[in-house]
Amino acid sequence: MKSIEIGILGCGIVGTGVAKILIEKQDLLASRIGARLHLKHVADLDTTTDRGIDFDDGVLIPDAEAVLNDPEIDIIVETIGGKGIAKEFVLKALKSGKHVVTANKALLASFGNELVGAARESQVDLAFEASTGGCMPVIKALRESLVANRIERMVGILNGTCNFILTKMSKEGCSFDKALKEAQELGFAEADPFLDVEGHDSAHKLAILGALAYGMEINLEDIHVEGISKITPMDIEFAKEFGYTIKLLAISKNNTGTVEARVHPAMIPSSSPLSHVEGSMNAVTIDGDATGQTMLYGHGAGMMPTASAVVGDIADIARNIISGTRQRMPILGCPESNVRTIPILPVKEISTPYYFRFEAADEPGVLSRISGILGDCGISIKIVHQKGRRSNGSVPVVMITHHAREESAQKALKQIAALDAIMDEPVVIRIENNDN
Ligand code: HSE
Repeated sequence: MKSIEIGILGCGIVGTGVAKILIEKQDLLASRIGARLHLKHVADLDTTTDRGIDFDDGVLIPDAEAVLNDPEIDIIVETIGGKGIAKEFVLKALKSGKHVVTANKALLASFGNELVGAARESQVDLAFEASTGGCMPVIKALRESLVANRIERMVGILNGTCNFILTKMSKEGCSFDKALKEAQELGFAEADPFLDVEGHDSAHKLAILGALAYGMEINLEDIHVEGISKITPMDIEFAKEFGYTIKLLAISKNNTGTVEARVHPAMIPSSSPLSHVEGSMNAVTIDGDATGQTMLYGHGAGMMPTASAVVGDIADIARNIISGTRQRMPILGCPESNVRTIPILPVKEISTPYYFRFEAADEPGVLSRISGILGDCGISIKIVHQKGRRSNGSVPVVMITHHAREESAQKALKQIAALDAIMDEPVVIRIENNDN
């Protein structure tokens, strides 16, 4: 039986999971693939920590260059993370004719076009199922299973840390800081949790999915990003009263000539499937013109779910190697000449319903001044709610609007915030229904 030689760079959580699967499931994988996946080397500066794996002598080494320069190695697995040395190693591997599997969403979102170019040049495969949604096969779904569809819209819960925090705040009424600390202890937050809670990790993943769904270049720069650090238990409670759940969503829509791509907290109907995605779980709904809505759900992080996706990619490449093909699957879902540069619609041009909360002085005429400004800006109010005077004399005035343009909403909010009767920065959360 043919042996495919594999080298892993980085033996942290995901690298360890990949090594475990390759060692412990070698017979199962060999029987399914028809070739033996042989873990030749794992490179990590730390070769002493007990990872619960019985490596053969000489497998775990501190020298990544030795792995990259080993002519016998067919596939490099990059599980270092980040955009520094990982980029250097991936480029080196691709340029030297080795196939690469990576789970590194930050790297792909920032330098994906360059890496895809290097892979094409060397005619090798670059696979990244684990980069987005952990074990959910969303890359494969977009590139292969849904190929017959024009993708109209994708809405994803793509960051387990944020979903865990929001679920905990919603169920237990606990503070943002307490929930974040627990997410970090459970190990699915990024080394720098800013990337999670401020929405950048979700944006990395959306940039990758957008490219595959719409046949466009990876474009992280133009994705509008807002995080969840300003979400309060009060807004979560108001959302519930209106029949909504707050989630951090990665949203993209296929307009004519442009796409929408944005990450922000949003209220979604509590009856919608995505609102039932709880804890650190991930999910994405994909609307195709032939399929209607499809939903994928699964563990978006964690050692074994992520490793499962990495090994799935290794198996794909191994099958290509056995059958003598390279780049059977175009990396971004269509041949290079068909990958287009599609502009992302500036967020000020989107239209959506809104939730506003104003901390207003409880005195005559305030509501009419607020609604006057909204009316002047062309924003139609659907629901107004005022409840619970505070000790400082302010009351939360909560409004749900009909669809309005973002530019108009921002203009109105600026004017309302400047009123003497408004005592705090207005809160604005977009509402994402199935029909917008
Ligand atoms: N920090 C990420 C998350 C890990 O919380 O979802 C998986 O990409």
